[in-house]
Amino acid sequence: MNTQKLASLEGKSLLTWLDFTSEEIRLFLDFSKQVKSEKNERKERFKGKTLAMLFEKRSTRTRCAFETAFGEEGGHPVFLSTDDIQLGAKESVEDTARVLGRMFSAIQFRGFKQSTVKTLADYSGVPVYNGLTDLFHPTQALADILTLEENFGNCQGKKLVFAGDGRNNVARSLLVICSKLGVNFSIITPPALAPDAELLAQCDPIAKTYGANIRVSSDLNEVIGANAVYTDVWVSMGEESKRVERRTLLLPYQVNQNLMDRTGRKDTIFLHCLPAVKGEEVTTEVIDGPQSRAWDEAENRKWTIKAIMLATLPK
Ligand code: CP
Ligand code: NVA
Repeated sequence: MNTQKLASLEGKSLLTWLDFTSEEIRLFLDFSKQVKSEKNERKERFKGKTLAMLFEKRSTRTRCAFETAFGEEGGHPVFLSTDDIQLGAKESVEDTARVLGRMFSAIQFRGFKQSTVKTLADYSGVPVYNGLTDLFHPTQALADILTLEENFGNCQGKKLVFAGDGRNNVARSLLVICSKLGVNFSIITPPALAPDAELLAQCDPIAKTYGANIRVSSDLNEVIGANAVYTDVWVSMGEESKRVERRTLLLPYQVNQNLMDRTGRKDTIFLHCLPAVKGEEVTTEVIDGPQSRAWDEAENRKWTIKAIMLATLPK
């Protein structure tokens, strides 16, 4: 590990991978591997530090990853849901950020607007981590790439295919990280759920620089040759009113054994950020079957999140 380069990440917030260079993302990835390999060691690296964990939406993995990673290294994480805190209700996000920045070493935010996590970063003066917004889920994407690399080695030139809601936070984050790391990334989705043109245009030159072939298609044959097939729920948090419409649009893109077999590779793995709605975006056979790496991927949330915090929290 190049500790000098790692030190250059100190003080940074993680709002979206768009704010990081390819080299920096690689540092986070390699450091995550190191942190995972030392998972049974307790070093108290967060001793005397505090983490505010703000949640507007529910969470199992993200909350538990941040909380256990921080706590087991001697830090004090404080969980604050919108039932507990004034955030945006009785007090502006700016003022909340100013106050939390005086009391905490870092802030994790999960919620609706990307602008909220940006404001927290702009006004708190401490590192802020995006634990999912409507637009991005960057800590998830790092765990996804780590899982890909655990199975296939360096991710550059590998093929990842996302089948499902192509405009959601998980697909968008994969689009960015794959462009930056040279991963060939296809989104198969109906035209109505394609990722927005602005993000695609933003990623296009990045993908060209790093040799990533980025494709958006409604053709299921896009899975041919895929190292990994990925899906996410059809209805993201906050979009519950769209359930009926999404079922109709996305049923043809369900990840089932037929789609997995269509890759033409025996070693294709299945990824899912979880939670999953078994029988909708993925069949039980696939997610609970031998090709699934969803549970490793869930565990990897913890090591990648610990690595992100270790690298960015000022010493
Ligand atoms: N993948 C993920 O973010 O899971 P949670 O919603 O449980 O945190
Ligand atoms: N797209 C999903 C991801 C959950 C981890 C959601 O936003 O609900």
